[in-house]
Amino acid sequence: MEKYMDTSLACEERAQLLLEEMTDEEKAAQLLQISYNAVSAEDYERFQRLGVGSYLHVTGEETDKLRAAAQKTRLKIPPIFGIDAIHGHALLNGAVVFPSQLAMACSFDRSLIYEIGRATALEAAADGIDWTFSPVLCLGRDLRWGRIDETFGEDPYLAGEMGEAIIKGYQADNMITACAKHYIAYGEATGGRDAYDSEVTERKIREVFLPPFEKAVRAGCGTVMTAYGSIDASPLSANRRMLTEILKEELGFEGFVVTDWENVRSLVTKQHAAENLKQASKLAVEAGNDMSMNTPEFYDCLLELMRGGEIDMARVNDAVRRILTVKFKLGLFDGKKRPPRGTIACEEHKELNLRSARECAVLLENKSIGDTKVLPLSGDTKTIAVIGPNADDIRAQYGDWTFFSHPEWKDEVEAKGDYYTVLRGIKEVFPKAEILYGKGCGVLEADDKAVEEAVSLAECADAVVAVVGDCLAINGEYRDRADLSLTAPQTELLKRLKATGKPLIAVLVNGKPLCAEWLKNNCDALIEMFNGGDYGGLAAAEIIAGKLNPSGRLPISFPRHSAQTPCYYNRYDGWHGGKYVDIEAGNVYDFGYGLSYSEFEYKNIRLSKTEMEKGESVRVSVDVTNISDIDGTETVQLYINDKISSILTPVKQLCGFERVRINAGDTKTVSFEIEPEALSLVNAKCERVIESGVFEIMVGKNSEEYLTAELVVK
Ligand code: GLC
Repeated sequence: MEKYMDTSLACEERAQLLLEEMTDEEKAAQLLQISYNAVSAEDYERFQRLGVGSYLHVTGEETDKLRAAAQKTRLKIPPIFGIDAIHGHALLNGAVVFPSQLAMACSFDRSLIYEIGRATALEAAADGIDWTFSPVLCLGRDLRWGRIDETFGEDPYLAGEMGEAIIKGYQADNMITACAKHYIAYGEATGGRDAYDSEVTERKIREVFLPPFEKAVRAGCGTVMTAYGSIDASPLSANRRMLTEILKEELGFEGFVVTDWENVRSLVTKQHAAENLKQASKLAVEAGNDMSMNTPEFYDCLLELMRGGEIDMARVNDAVRRILTVKFKLGLFDGKKRPPRGTIACEEHKELNLRSARECAVLLENKSIGDTKVLPLSGDTKTIAVIGPNADDIRAQYGDWTFFSHPEWKDEVEAKGDYYTVLRGIKEVFPKAEILYGKGCGVLEADDKAVEEAVSLAECADAVVAVVGDCLAINGEYRDRADLSLTAPQTELLKRLKATGKPLIAVLVNGKPLCAEWLKNNCDALIEMFNGGDYGGLAAAEIIAGKLNPSGRLPISFPRHSAQTPCYYNRYDGWHGGKYVDIEAGNVYDFGYGLSYSEFEYKNIRLSKTEMEKGESVRVSVDVTNISDIDGTETVQLYINDKISSILTPVKQLCGFERVRINAGDTKTVSFEIEPEALSLVNAKCERVIESGVFEIMVGKNSEEYLTAELVVK
């Protein structure tokens, strides 16, 4: 037996032993990932013979075929199969489709997100996959960006906590390895323009964008993906400072870095940072990229560089070693046993998914008509009109990165999964009522006839459920938006429905925040589902019927106007005037906001000490009482403000959160341990330090409603 096949040895040692056996051709092949649908048939065969390191978008039996092909190569190095299983293994029609990351984040539930990661890993592994390009740790701060739906929202602390949880879930059973992406500050591109330049300093990166990746590295994330864009005009694919000096040397990242799609080619064709692919390949590898996602020419370029002594061989060897180590750790060399295919969409995962949709649903408005709240609707409601383009559209409800849109866009395909749109959900929870349905309009297309039909249905109903939002044509990768308003056809439909005078309950099924001022002012009730996955429609219906007491909270702010973005809560002070002169101040909905059918009262905030030395920790506690007669779950949130600091710090920054179940009439004391890091800032010299002074400690139900205590750090 080859020494590197000795399973008693450490994976790093096995990787080194194997590396020492490898030829230049075998090394170059390991550093390439090819996508079956982006290479010629000849190349597809060629790279099988060469023993390519990885395949993308290959699933099921095709993975077995390619594993067998690798067994015919000299060293039999197994390929690693990657895919975007980013809210379930959703590129497989029939697998569970969980809520999108943005919807997941509404749960503020670390254990739920861990379970979602674990279930996703088992379903992907059952389909031959070893690696998911997830989680997205970009921050959704500029709402014009098309990929907000893939983020955990606007906040670095929440994104870090959710990212850590899902990575641990993905890797719990060592079936697959995760991928923290897109490194780094990809969502901060100027103007929200996908893959455009992010005008951020290293200090801002360290303060805002690096913390979620630090948590990912600490969580043992197996891989990191290099973002498309550039940092202050330095392409990330060629950015040694970010990829090697900070990620690998300073943070100690031991896994491997894969580029995003065709980044090597983009250095030549888009960023004009390299004359040709050979120069681009050298730049990418020597900056710290270990694997190139596609760009098949990368193989020959790398080989030429190696043979000509034109590339740092220690770097090449390090890249190969990193990739092999991940493969050994995954057991790919040792006859890994995969879960049975029956794992895919098994009952346990479906139940988890239903729980996910229920926890992710956010109630934003629930007004009273007379002295009665509109929601929940009475079980005796006789007729309900369900109206709107997203009322019965699973494609809109799923959002991006499912079999509908990747790896190719499919218009004519039926979803095989067991899913509930809002229409099906309403029928399920109001079995005795007459349910009337009318689409009313498209998200983008008006339809005069359909509007009239919808209005006449509304006029026959006791209540109207209007399901609106957005669709994949205006959301997702390459699909940034300048105008975040609800589209005109939908606004027109809503105004007509409002004019009927019936109770108007709006459900938002959308990839990201919209300018929701009209909805806030004119709807009697409003529920935000984002892309809620298979059971998003059932969870929304259960809230409407009072079978679910909503507990979701917003991980992202909702603007009043498109031009108001960015409008994230953890802003700096210092705006002359503090508002735009032509719109009201503030957001329509703030970070952390969400209603419950219960009512929670906060009292008695107290610190374990009000003065302390730098480096000490302190405990803050608060009493939370459910003053309603309905048992419920509250998400208690901790924010901190460093009142005077040598560098601008946010007016408040989330530093803790806990979901707490509190039954009617009960009081629970909720405490947070504030560790030194929560009081730190990144100073002008890029050092993370704690400065003496007064800190405002805030604990409450969202970023605008909280109790405050003062802490002095000497
Ligand atoms: C895409 C995305 C990236 C994804 C990759 C593979 O273009 O930017 O998030 O993981 O290509 O599908």
